[in-house]
Amino acid sequence: MRTDEFAERYLSGLELWGDDFGPAQIEEWFADEREAYANLGAASSDSEAYGYSGFNRQYGFRYLPDRRFRRALGVGSAFGGEFLPVLDRIDDITILEPSAHLRSAALRSTPVRYEDPVPSGDMPFDDRSFDLVLCFGVLHHIPNVSKVVREIGRVTAPGGWVLLCEPVVSMGDWRSADRPGLTRRERGIPRHLLERAVGDAGLSIRSSLFCAATPTSRIGRLLRCNMYANRIGAVVDRALALATAWNYRYHPTSAWQKLRPSSVFIVAQRPR
Ligand SMILES: C[S@@+](CC[C@H](N)C(=O)[O-])C[C@H]1O[C@@H](n2cnc3c(N)ncnc32)[C@H](O)[C@@H]1O
Repeated sequence: MRTDEFAERYLSGLELWGDDFGPAQIEEWFADEREAYANLGAASSDSEAYGYSGFNRQYGFRYLPDRRFRRALGVGSAFGGEFLPVLDRIDDITILEPSAHLRSAALRSTPVRYEDPVPSGDMPFDDRSFDLVLCFGVLHHIPNVSKVVREIGRVTAPGGWVLLCEPVVSMGDWRSADRPGLTRRERGIPRHLLERAVGDAGLSIRSSLFCAATPTSRIGRLLRCNMYANRIGAVVDRALALATAWNYRYHPTSAWQKLRPSSVFIVAQRPR
């Protein structure tokens, strides 16, 4: 593909790189990503040390109704720390996770069952199996995003809830090898394409908020604290995401253009 055609179609954010791949290309991508996040060595095996609970509460969990969830699914939930804020409301947890290394036997006293995803994106679950689905920072590691989001819609029970959070910026030009700290294939998903995929999966979006503004992590580094672990940091992030939302673009080409929210947090529900 010509460089200018690639930029026009994908770096512009009009189309999502990977979403139109055929089976052979999808298999290659899937194999590259299977252990790629584990190999970065960024994840703590102590689920109690999970660092985004304040963030996930502020942007996602607080929108959930005050009820119990019979069966929850974590797509790419690794050790499962993201479930902690709602763990006491869940009876049963299944995690779809390709890495053999990012697995916990249990979350506190709740047993966790793991299943392996397959490249096609087909999930090994019956229709309407889960009343809560979490998918945090995972779809951008996957080529066939629309297919996987359709599967999330299929396995969600009527009235069930889906919480998704993904980068909505390119994360650099992914043809380049020079992207330190990232896996080979990960790339953000343009916001409008992510929201369209959720709608096409039969889910109704109840909330979709810009988050993870670039100044937030800089403030965290200055203060030597994790801004996403607690509510105050998440509230500061929301204010910064709102203040910089006007500058959102998928693929920035200058430092100034990088001053913007980098992710979107979506809370969606499958209609009854
Ligand atoms: C950035 S990590 C996020 C982990 C966790 N959700 C969190 O928020 O800490 C991405 C996760 O997606 C997983 N992953 C990669 N490809 C996947 C696939 N095809 N299906 C499900 N999970 C996948 C990785 O192994 C990793 O656990």
